[in-house]
Amino acid sequence: MTSTDFIVARNDLGQCKLIETAIPDAAALPADTLLVKVERFALTANNVTYAVMGDELKYWQIFPAPQGFGNIPVWGFGEVVASKHPGVAVGERLFGYFPMATHLVIEAADVSKRALRDGAEHRKQVSPVYNLYSRVTDDPTFAGHQGDLQALLRPLFMLSFLVDDFLAENDDFGASSVLLSSASSKTAFGLAHLLQSRGRKVIGLTSAGNAGFVTSLGCYDEIVTYDRLTSLPSDTPVAFTDMAGNSALRAELHRHFGDRMKCSIRVGLTHRATDSDEGELPGAKPRWFFAPDQIRKRAKEWGPGGIEQRFGAAWSGFAPMLERCLSVVESRGPEAVQRIYLDTLKGRIPPEQGHMLSLLG
Ligand SMILES: NC(=O)c1ccc[n+]([C@@H]2O[C@H](COP(=O)([O-])OP(=O)(O)OC[C@H]3O[C@@H](n4cnc5c(N)ncnc54)[C@H](OP(=O)(O)O)[C@@H]3O)[C@@H](O)[C@H]2O)c1
Repeated sequence: MTSTDFIVARNDLGQCKLIETAIPDAAALPADTLLVKVERFALTANNVTYAVMGDELKYWQIFPAPQGFGNIPVWGFGEVVASKHPGVAVGERLFGYFPMATHLVIEAADVSKRALRDGAEHRKQVSPVYNLYSRVTDDPTFAGHQGDLQALLRPLFMLSFLVDDFLAENDDFGASSVLLSSASSKTAFGLAHLLQSRGRKVIGLTSAGNAGFVTSLGCYDEIVTYDRLTSLPSDTPVAFTDMAGNSALRAELHRHFGDRMKCSIRVGLTHRATDSDEGELPGAKPRWFFAPDQIRKRAKEWGPGGIEQRFGAAWSGFAPMLERCLSVVESRGPEAVQRIYLDTLKGRIPPEQGHMLSLLG
């Protein structure tokens, strides 16, 4: 039996191909192992960032591929088609981190009522969140259209939630407004929604082609295109959350605001501009935001279920906005997956679209 896998060259993400890999027959599965059919998965710029950071953050280790190639992790749904674990039934649906493939073999561990973990040796070096699968068979919030929104947005909105929380607990570092680059990205507009909900002024920075969409979202107080950054008044303190990861843009903003740049945190790399040495910049020193640190801190302070409960409330406030501004586009089959992947890589996906894919025909 084989799985069809979509793999990319690690040093040239534009090079991609399909391969067939051998997977065990149901009867030959080792004890506690599950064979999962990958039903559907979301693909956004975030997955491209996983690939860009594949070596550094060990994303390539999660789903092994032939030498020089990698299988990009995606968030989505799978169906158990064979099980050698007594606590997991054939037909169950799982939500979690999958390869761009038709099948995945999982070594089920820590099986509880709500979740299980892939205990495979090669996955042990990444954060536990990437090895966890939620058991969602009878959960309506993970079914149909709602399920698609979860796969597309949930991992991104968790980051929006954590950054908002980090800024709020630091009184926004004294800033009177927050600037977000790649304002049209899902992670950015989730954060803009949260900031605006607690009365912060939010300024969205985006490309000219996406300015109309960003305006239509209604969660930014002001929108400025990348070619007009210096038109922003520079006499009030600001905080900057960077989804674009474009060093020239970051340097221009820091020089424009000088000491009034009170906080500069890096979250994403949508522009994939090569990091040039920007030297010492005026204002707060840019630093990466590391989500697991904030999770650990809040898990300790808020106690069991504290993050989930607050995140759930935030998600409920965000969901109506998604219905209004995001259309889910579903595509199936290897050619469609390749086309949407290359469009995502090149930044050609209209921001109002959320793509759900499947390699199954
Ligand atoms: N650190 C974390 O834990 C974490 C968690 C979640 C997300 N993130 C990061 O946040 C960023 C946004 O992710 P997302 O999935 O929300 O993105 P998305 O919705 O797919 O964002 C699409 C937008 O990104 C910009 N973009 C994408 N590809 C581009 C390209 N090739 N060239 C130029 N611009 C491009 C464009 O925005 P503009 O025209 O507005 O620039 C585009 O409208 C990613 O880098 C992601 O990794 C980080």
